[in-house]
Amino acid sequence: MKIIKFTAICSLSIIIVINVVMPQFTTAADESKIGYGRGGRMSGSSKSSRSDEPIKPIPINFDYDRAKVELGKKLFFEPRLSKSGWITCNSCHNLSTGGADNLPTSIGHKWFFGPINSPTVLNSKFNLAQFWDGRAKDLKEQAGGPIANPLEMGSNHELAVSVLQSIPQYVKWFNEVYASKEMYTDEKIHIDQVTDAIAAFEETLTTPNSRFDQWLNGYDKSITKSELEGYTLFKEKGCISCHNGVGVGGNSYQKFGVAKPYDKDTDTLGRYNVTNDDKDRYFFKVPLLRNIELTAPYFHDASTWDLSEAVNIMAEYQLGTTLTDGETKKIVAFLRTLTGDQPSITFPIIPPSTSTTPEPNRN
Ligand code: HEC
Ligand code: HEC
Repeated sequence: MKIIKFTAICSLSIIIVINVVMPQFTTAADESKIGYGRGGRMSGSSKSSRSDEPIKPIPINFDYDRAKVELGKKLFFEPRLSKSGWITCNSCHNLSTGGADNLPTSIGHKWFFGPINSPTVLNSKFNLAQFWDGRAKDLKEQAGGPIANPLEMGSNHELAVSVLQSIPQYVKWFNEVYASKEMYTDEKIHIDQVTDAIAAFEETLTTPNSRFDQWLNGYDKSITKSELEGYTLFKEKGCISCHNGVGVGGNSYQKFGVAKPYDKDTDTLGRYNVTNDDKDRYFFKVPLLRNIELTAPYFHDASTWDLSEAVNIMAEYQLGTTLTDGETKKIVAFLRTLTGDQPSITFPIIPPSTSTTPEPNRN
C-alpha cells in the first residue's frame, strides 16, 4: 500500500514538474548546467505575447559551464586580487545592492576616490561594450582593468596571478576548467584565464522575471494602469529611442546633452577618450535601465540621487521638453517595474594563503 502511494506521489510530482518546468526551460535536462539562470513564477492569465514592443524580456538561460562559473564567482569575491588584500570586485559592484556601490564615485586602493560612478554588473552582458565610454570590448577584456587600476584594486596582473599560483587549490581548479582547452597546456595560471572565468560568472548575473517582463510575456495584471501609462509616456516622449532592447539601454553611444548642453560636468569627455574624434565629445554608452531603482546615485557624475530628478534631467537635456509632475511620477513608476529577480548567490569560500603567497600590501 505504502509503495503504491509513494509511486503515485512520485509520478504526480514528475507530471507537475514536467508541466511547470518543461515549457520554459527546455535545456534544463542537463543537470551539470542547472542553477544559475533563474526561473520565474508568474501570476495572471496569458493573453498575448508582446513581441513587437521595443523592449524585450531578459531571456532565462541555463547554458553555463558550471565549473568555470564557480571559479569566476570565487575570483569575483577574491580580495587577494587586490594589492591590499582587501578589495574585491564585489566592493564596488555589490551584489547585495543591485551590483553597484551606491556611492557617487567608488572607494579604491588607499581610499582613493575614482573619477566616475560605478555602473552595475547586473545584466552587463547586454552592453555593446563595457565602461561608460565603451573602451573595453567585452566582459573578459573589462575584467583585467580594475585589478591593475591604481585607483581601484591597485595590483598588477603578474602579482594577482602569482597569488593564485601559490595556492594549490586554485591551481587545481584552473587546471580542471582549462586543462582540456588547447590554449592552456601548462600548469601555469594565466591572467587570460582569470578574466575569462570572471566574465563567465558575470554572464550569469542577469535579472529576469521583472514585473515588466511578465507584462511583455502577456500577463496583463503584472503592472498597474499608471505603470503602463508611464511606459506609454516613455515611448511617446522619446526615451525609448535610446533606452530599448533587452537591457533598456546598453546598445548605443549617445551624447549627454542632445537638446541642451550638459553643464554640470564638462570635464568627462566620454567616448572621445577612445576615438579622439571631436564629434564623440560627451557621448556615453546609454546605461541599462534594468533595476534602476537600486542603483542611485545616477549619471556618470552621480549628479542626482533622485530617480524623478534623473528622469526630468533626461527630458530637459535629451529631449528638450519639460514633464508635468504627474508624467514624471508615472515614468518613474514604470522604471520601478524593471527590477527583476536578483541573482541568488551562495557566498563562496576561498582557499587559504600558503607560505609562498605574496603578502597584502596596503601602500
Ligand atoms: C574600486 C571600485 C571598483 C572595483 C574594485 C571594481 N570596479 Fe568595476 N567599475 C568601477 C567603476 C568606477 C567603473 C566605471 C569606470 C568607467 O566607465 O570608466 C566600473 C566598470 C565596470 C564594468 C562595466 C559596466 C558597464 O556598464 O560598462 C564591469 C563589467 C565591471 N566594472 C566589473 C568589475 C570586475 C569584474 C571587477 C573585479 C575584477 C571590478 N569591476 C572591480 C569600479 C570598480
Ligand atoms: C538621446 C538619447 C537618450 C534619450 C532620448 C534619453 N536618454 Fe536617458 N540616458 C542617455 C544617456 C547617454 C545616459 C547617460 C548619461 C551620463 O550619465 O553620462 C542616460 C542616462 C539615463 C538615466 C540614468 C542611468 C544611470 O544608471 O545613471 C536614466 C534614469 C535615464 N537615462 C532615463 C531616461 C528617460 C526616462 C528618458 C526620457 C524622458 C531618457 N532617459 C531619454 C541617453 C538618452
